[in-house]
Amino acid sequence: MWPYPKVLAHRGGGTLAPENTLAGFRTGLQHGYRAAEFDVMLTRDEVPILMHDPRRGRTLPGEGLIAETDWAVLRELDAGAWLDASFAGERLCTLEQGLDFCLEHGIWMNVEIKPAAAAHARRTGELAAQAVAQRFAGVSLQASLPVLSSFSFEALMAAKETAPDLPRGFLVDVIPDDWEARLAQLQAVALHTSHKNLTPALAGQVKAAGYGLFCYTVNDPARAAEIRGWGVDAFCTDRIDLIPADAW
Ligand code: G3P
Ligand code: MG
Repeated sequence: MWPYPKVLAHRGGGTLAPENTLAGFRTGLQHGYRAAEFDVMLTRDEVPILMHDPRRGRTLPGEGLIAETDWAVLRELDAGAWLDASFAGERLCTLEQGLDFCLEHGIWMNVEIKPAAAAHARRTGELAAQAVAQRFAGVSLQASLPVLSSFSFEALMAAKETAPDLPRGFLVDVIPDDWEARLAQLQAVALHTSHKNLTPALAGQVKAAGYGLFCYTVNDPARAAEIRGWGVDAFCTDRIDLIPADAW
């Protein structure tokens, strides 16, 4: 039911490295992590890149929306110095670069599609799915395929139409009443949800319906053990230093 890795580094390498960068993946590898969640959005010129925030300011110098900035500008920015001087000079990477790095190093991926602006949801889902599908053309082993997830139902529907064979996880902060209908419409394999709003009863319902259940972002080993007892299949963590990759 959940053929994928069970413990993932959040945003590449958790909080030990700049999020959504190759440095993050490298840090994950150093801690034994061969599975990662990362975020993808489109630049103005429709390049899918690894990025979490919709605007510059926190992890990138300067200001402005990612959706209104070209890749040629973004690629020059320092994406590592905000976390620590030792990461100064780290750059953003495109989805293609991220996929290539992960494939080369045997890192399994949960690709979170993060529309940078609501109107771009479908386009983001389409282009992200297209890039992943190209890299995984001909791969039939289900466990090797990345899971595409999104808080945006529209983005995931577009991903489904673009690359129906790629597995999908519907991502929610709070599990909505119509979760089962949504998963059915998306032909999703899993529900991805915040562990904070999960209850044993809800977890039981999702599992009884035959879906995978993934939680974000679990940073306490005791909490990880607790939700495992509820039937949760997998989770991502910022604390790759506290939670071993083979914890589950
Ligand atoms: O994919 C799970 C998790 O990453 C969702 O939250 O904001 O860290 O992308 P966020
Ligand atoms: Mg994410």
